[in-house]
Amino acid sequence: MQIQKYTPQYEDSWLRCRLLAYFYTSLYEDVETSKPTFYERPSIELIAIEDGIVVGLIDMVLDTEELKTSFLGDGLGAFLKTIAVHPDYQSKGIGLKLYEAALKELENTPIEFIELYTRGDEQANNFYKKIGFELLVESYDVFGIEKGLRDTISIGIESNRIKAFHENGEPCNFVIVDGVYEVYDLEALEKIEYERYYPSRGYFKKIK
Ligand SMILES: CC(C)(COP(=O)(O)OP(=O)(O)OC[C@H]1O[C@@H](n2cnc3c(N)ncnc32)[C@H](O)[C@@H]1OP(=O)(O)O)[C@@H](O)C(=O)NCCC(=O)NCCS
Repeated sequence: MQIQKYTPQYEDSWLRCRLLAYFYTSLYEDVETSKPTFYERPSIELIAIEDGIVVGLIDMVLDTEELKTSFLGDGLGAFLKTIAVHPDYQSKGIGLKLYEAALKELENTPIEFIELYTRGDEQANNFYKKIGFELLVESYDVFGIEKGLRDTISIGIESNRIKAFHENGEPCNFVIVDGVYEVYDLEALEKIEYERYYPSRGYFKKIK
């Protein structure tokens, strides 16, 4: 296994690795269909290669004096956007090696801390704690719909088109089926009809 900088020839393999790694986590719906680029922003994009395929990846985007998007610390931060190891290669130290390689690249930058967000999965949370991250903030991703927003509608078909009506007979041409709410206090769950929710945890590590 070797760690190298990402190059576009590995895009398909990168996407497959990320998809499979996330598939077994609460982030299973978070699918990328093209490799995210960071436009003009400085970034660290590394891959672990074994037998010609991507078995691990890490992407970080870095603050500059002109554009700071990190939130959890003062000074310039790096946002760890994605880390993923192919399920067939997990728990063999590849995640650690990718992180260490990214850390080495950060040595020559003005970045002082790393910030990241994850859900409640034990594997990811253990991993971040193992490499010295501190849990700083927690909110919740709630999948559902605010009470009172779901209207009773009746549906019919006319000339191959769906025609929907509110109870009062008014035509209705859109409804919200489901949404994702970022919830800061679990008391808000009383106001939402939800089917599932996850903690969203913000981790922080000072590196300089
Ligand atoms: C999280 C992830 C990147 C870690 O990479 P990895 O190569 O599997 O991890 P490593 O082998 O380097 O293990 C390092 C530490 O991670 C934790 N860890 C790894 N596998 C674990 C598992 N199956 N269960 C619990 N903790 C685990 C342990 O603390 C481990 O240290 P230890 O070996 O001393 O116990 C990888 O498992 C993964 O891709 N998971 C799915 C995708 C994901 O959740 N990404 C993060 C989204 S925010």
